[in-house]
Amino acid sequence: MFLKGNFLYTPSRTELTIRENQYAHIENGIVTGFTTSLPESAGAEKVIDYGQDIIIPAFVDLHIHAPQYINRGLGFDEELLPWLEHYTFPAEGKFADPVFARRVYTAFLERLKAEGTLCFSAFATIHKEATWQLMELAETMGFKAYIGKVNMDRNAPDYLLEDTDQSLADTEELTVRCQEELHRVRFIATPRFVPSTTEKLMTGLGRLCEKYDLPVQSHLSENRNEVAWVKELHPDLPSYTDVYDAFGLLRQDKTIMAHAIYLSDKEKSLLGNKGVYLAHCAQSNANLTSGIMPLRRNLEQGLTCTIASDVAAGHTPAMNKQIALTIEISKLHALQHDTEKALTIGEGLYLATKGPGRFYGRTGSFETGYAFDALVIHMDDMEGLERTPFEKLQQFIYDGDDRNIIARYVDGELVVRG
Ligand code: GUN
Ligand code: FE
Repeated sequence: MFLKGNFLYTPSRTELTIRENQYAHIENGIVTGFTTSLPESAGAEKVIDYGQDIIIPAFVDLHIHAPQYINRGLGFDEELLPWLEHYTFPAEGKFADPVFARRVYTAFLERLKAEGTLCFSAFATIHKEATWQLMELAETMGFKAYIGKVNMDRNAPDYLLEDTDQSLADTEELTVRCQEELHRVRFIATPRFVPSTTEKLMTGLGRLCEKYDLPVQSHLSENRNEVAWVKELHPDLPSYTDVYDAFGLLRQDKTIMAHAIYLSDKEKSLLGNKGVYLAHCAQSNANLTSGIMPLRRNLEQGLTCTIASDVAAGHTPAMNKQIALTIEISKLHALQHDTEKALTIGEGLYLATKGPGRFYGRTGSFETGYAFDALVIHMDDMEGLERTPFEKLQQFIYDGDDRNIIARYVDGELVVRG
């Protein structure tokens, strides 16, 4: 198949490739290269011409809470710990009902699809049945995803408090069922955060991760009161990061830690050595008054950072809006640290496509060998005011929405909306 249009993608954080009026060749869902005209050998192969529209890699969101979709925008007068208690836990408790869960998860996935996030890593809740519903729905709706059943066996209300052995048994059952029945959706170990998981649970999860070679996702150093609480709970370990490491939960190149705002140099070096993906959630960090991650400094120190929505602490799953906000906050941060450079548009696109895509595999770019996971974006051209592909990208990032995304592809196949 050949697709014609204006392709924009980021082979590296500092490189934005723009292929204007070119043909992408896609074979078995994989990009095999670009040409400036249709080759003679094209023969009877299908050609789709998207004219002056731009085509970018589909977005990848490495940190989002699927059940919290019902709570977007709620409770932001509170900081993290009271917000969890007053808003998030009661919402997650509702997912004991798998019928309710299926309804919410269908709406959640439809919204992600609309906004162009076709690959993601999500927290579900502690509930096994509801988590399976999310996994199955994500698979049948065509997403690439990591999905985790949340583990919590301390400091939670009764209705979200698990028995430790049952939590581990349910986690193992879902891991095996997912491996046997699903293809694009994979299981990820999901201890909520250190205050929610006892040492026994973390030890058991570490063992399961070894046994099934599982990736891990959790939260790290998001809020000052949370960090102090972890210190109280684990006074013998040197840092929050060390707690995860002590229980085998920083798995080499297979771990996502959300927020990671308040880190010592030692913690950064451990996270760097373990190849941990730091999911930077700028909108969430602002909404819950959590703090400002020193993104530029982290990137320059070689840490892997990605842009993530953290719905519902982030109020929108739309990754174009998350990119714009991350850049805006990065500019304000740069103003107060005058040696620092703000994030650029190209960097923002990378941190929401190829950067996080590496966690899943070859997605997030149009280099040869990458899956053709893409969004076709139509921005209105007014007569006499034609915009370049790069200008269209900027206007989509700042002021575009799902109405501008006129086609979505996963593995070279058109994804239909429900
Ligand atoms: N830390 C522990 N749980 C959560 C959660 O659901 N959202 C956020 N933002 N932080 C958390
Ligand atoms: Fe989160």
